[in-house]
Amino acid sequence: MLITCWSAKGGSGTTTVACALATLLAARHPAGCLLVDGCGDAPGALGLPEPDAPGLAGWLGEAGGVRGPATGPAGPEVPVAAGVSLVPRGVGALGPPSRVEALAGALAAEARPVVVDAGALAADHAELVPLAAGAARSLLVTRACYLSLRRAVRAPLRPSGVVLLAEPGRALTRDDVAEVVGVPVVAEVAVDPAVARAVDAGLLPVRLPRGLARALAHAA
Ligand SMILES: Nc1ncnc2c1ncn2[C@@H]1O[C@H](COP(=O)(O)OP(=O)(O)OP(=O)(O)O)[C@@H](O)[C@H]1O
Ligand SMILES: [Mg+2]
Repeated sequence: MLITCWSAKGGSGTTTVACALATLLAARHPAGCLLVDGCGDAPGALGLPEPDAPGLAGWLGEAGGVRGPATGPAGPEVPVAAGVSLVPRGVGALGPPSRVEALAGALAAEARPVVVDAGALAADHAELVPLAAGAARSLLVTRACYLSLRRAVRAPLRPSGVVLLAEPGRALTRDDVAEVVGVPVVAEVAVDPAVARAVDAGLLPVRLPRGLARALAHAA
C-alpha cells in the first residue's frame, strides 16, 4: 500500500508524520516499511547521517528505463531502525513527470507498505504530485490555519484524508477543516513537546512518542 503525506504549506509536520507512519507500519508488517523521502529532511528527522546514496533523484534520472518492483522500486535503500528502510532524496531534479508516474506505479506494487514524504505539494514540490495522485492514501498534513487551508483548496489535487496538527487556540475546528478540504480528518496529532524533542534528538523511529503513535494508529 502506498501512503503519501503532503502539505499545502511548509512546517506543517509532514516529515514528522511520514516518519512516524513508516515506523508504525514497519512494526505491523514482517517485511518492514519503505520510506521514500521526496524532500530531503527524513535523514535528519530519523537521526541518520546524510546518506551517500543516489536515492530518489538518482532513480528518476537513471538511464535505461524505469525499473519495476522486482528489481527494487526506488533504488538503493538505507536501513534506518525498527524495520524502516529509507530511499533518500538524493541530489538533483525530480522528474520528468512520466518517470514520477512510473515510480508511483512501482511503489504502489511494492509488497511492503510504502510511505512517501512529498512535502509542500501546493508550493515548491509540485513535481511529486503523481506520487500523491497514485497513492492508496493521500494524506494532507495541515494545521487548522486559514492560510494553509486556502492553499490546500487550491492544491493541484484533493487528498483522501487530512492529518490535523492540532494546536491550542485555533479558531478553526476539526469539522471546519474537514468541510473546507472536503475530506475527513483521519487523525488529529497534538502539538507535543515530546514529539519535537524526539525529532530534534533523531530518536523518532526508536522512541516514537506514545501520543503520536496513538493519534496515527488509524491513519495507516
Ligand atoms: N506533533 C508535533 N508536536 C510538536 N512539534 C512537532 C510536531 N510535529 C512536528 N513538530 C516539529 O515542527 C517542526 C516542523 O516539522 P516537520 O519538519 O515535520 O514539518 P514539515 O511539514 O515536514 O516541514 P517542511 O515543509 O519544511 O518540510 C519540527 O521542528 C518538528 O520537530
Ligand atoms: Mg518536511
